[in-house]
Amino acid sequence: MDRTRGARFAVGLLVALAVVGSWWRRHPSACPYGLRLSLRAPHPFITRRGLREILAPAPGERVLEVGPGTGYYSLDVARWISPGGILDVLDIQQEMLDHTARRARERGIPNVVPQRGDAQELPYPDATFDAAFLNFVLGEVPNGDAALRELRRVLKPGGRLVVGEALPDPHMVPFESLRRRAEATGLRFERRSGGRPGYYALFTA
Ligand SMILES: C[S@@+](CC[C@H](N)C(=O)[O-])C[C@H]1O[C@@H](n2cnc3c(N)ncnc32)[C@H](O)[C@@H]1O
Repeated sequence: MDRTRGARFAVGLLVALAVVGSWWRRHPSACPYGLRLSLRAPHPFITRRGLREILAPAPGERVLEVGPGTGYYSLDVARWISPGGILDVLDIQQEMLDHTARRARERGIPNVVPQRGDAQELPYPDATFDAAFLNFVLGEVPNGDAALRELRRVLKPGGRLVVGEALPDPHMVPFESLRRRAEATGLRFERRSGGRPGYYALFTA
């Protein structure tokens, strides 16, 4: 390939990526299991340590994680709420749940309970959880407002919700938009950690 053709190819590729990225942003959908390797990479802007600091999980609590993927955060959270705590993990894709459950089993972590379902219609009774979190998930849900309403419903009064969003997720939800939408459901904003490339936001029900 000569230089001109190489440059044309590179520009074409960039344009194609921009078009696909823009389409994907406008049409939220679940990250396919086939892309699971990308979920194993470090999540530098919303770390496990940062999650622990803002979620403040305590032994004995019942916690819900929506969209665990391959369990990047799940295994640690399950440990932090031991002894006596239960981590319910809900995902729309059975392969993600199987992956997370397998990793928990291999590490001897007994308190991870998988459930297939949709964040827009959570299969749990009102006021079930002490806390809930979802990282890199909200922007993939077609009706994110419905998911926020459902999260509020299944939290106990005063229960905590942490939403983590970061680059390079093409579906990253900007903080101001999240805050406005969460407050519209009756969730109360408590605080935020992190900066422009990635943040955690804490709400209470
Ligand atoms: C980008 S992955 C993030 C996985 C994990 N939280 C992490 O940060 O490594 C998004 C996850 O949310 C799940 N998901 C997307 N839409 C969902 C929905 N409507 N209800 C439940 N889970 C959903 C996907 O199947 C996937 O496991």
